[in-house]
Amino acid sequence: MSEPRLRPPTVIAIDGPAGSGKSTVGRALAERLDLTYLDTGAMYRAVAFAAIRQGLDPSDEEPVVAISKALDIKVDDTGVFVGGVDATVEIRGPEVTRAVSMVASYPGVREEMRTRQRIWAAERGGGVIEGRDIGTVVFPDAVLKVYLTASVETRASRRVQEMSDMHYDDVAADIARRDAQDSGRADSPLAEASDAVFLDTTELGVLEVVEQIANLVEEKLGDS
Ligand code: CDP
Repeated sequence: MSEPRLRPPTVIAIDGPAGSGKSTVGRALAERLDLTYLDTGAMYRAVAFAAIRQGLDPSDEEPVVAISKALDIKVDDTGVFVGGVDATVEIRGPEVTRAVSMVASYPGVREEMRTRQRIWAAERGGGVIEGRDIGTVVFPDAVLKVYLTASVETRASRRVQEMSDMHYDDVAADIARRDAQDSGRADSPLAEASDAVFLDTTELGVLEVVEQIANLVEEKLGDS
C-alpha cells in the first residue's frame, strides 16, 4: 500500500493596506468557494486589545510579546474572543486601532501569530487568509496571491461608511499612518509578493473583485 501523500494546505492569500476591501472580499470569496476564512488582522488587534486591557503601554515591547505568547485568541464566523471575552466590537475601536501597528511591529508577536496562522491552515487544509504578509512570508507557497489596493481617498471613504461614528479626516489620517508603519517595519512589512496578482479596487465593486479572484482560483486549481 502506498503511503498517503501529505498535501500542503491550499491557501489563497489576500494582502493589502487598510481599507482595501480585503475582509469583505475575503469573506465573500471564501463563501463562494466553500472555504474557511481567516482575518489575521483580527489576531494582531486581539493582542493590542489584551495589552490595553491589562494596562500595558503598547510601546513596551517585552511585556506585550509575553502576553501574545500566552493569549487565548479565537477568531471565527461568530466573532473575535480574547481570553474568553467577546472583543468583536472593541478590537475595531479607535484605541485598539491606534495601538495595533505598533504591537504588530514586534518580531516576537509576529512569530507567535505566524505559527498560529500556519497551524490554523494545516488543521483545515487551507482557506482564504488575509493580512499584510500572507503571500510574502506566512504562506509563500499559496496557490494564489492577491494584492488588493485602492486610493487612500477610496479606502478612507469605505471605512467611514462601515464605521458611521468616524470622521473622514481622522480615518484618512489613521490609514496613512498605519500604511507607513506597516510598510516601514523591519519584520514582514506590508508588501506585494513578486508573484501576486495586483488588483486596484478603486473603481471596482465587491462582486466584481470576488468574481475576478474566483476565476483566477479556478484557473490555478484546474492547472494543478
Ligand atoms: O481592517 P484594516 O485594514 O483596518 O486592518 P486589519 O487587517 O484589521 O489589521 C490591523 C493591523 O494589524 C494592521 O494595520 C497591521 O499593523 C497589522 N497586521 C499585520 O501586521 N499583519 C497582518 N498579517 C495583518 C494585520
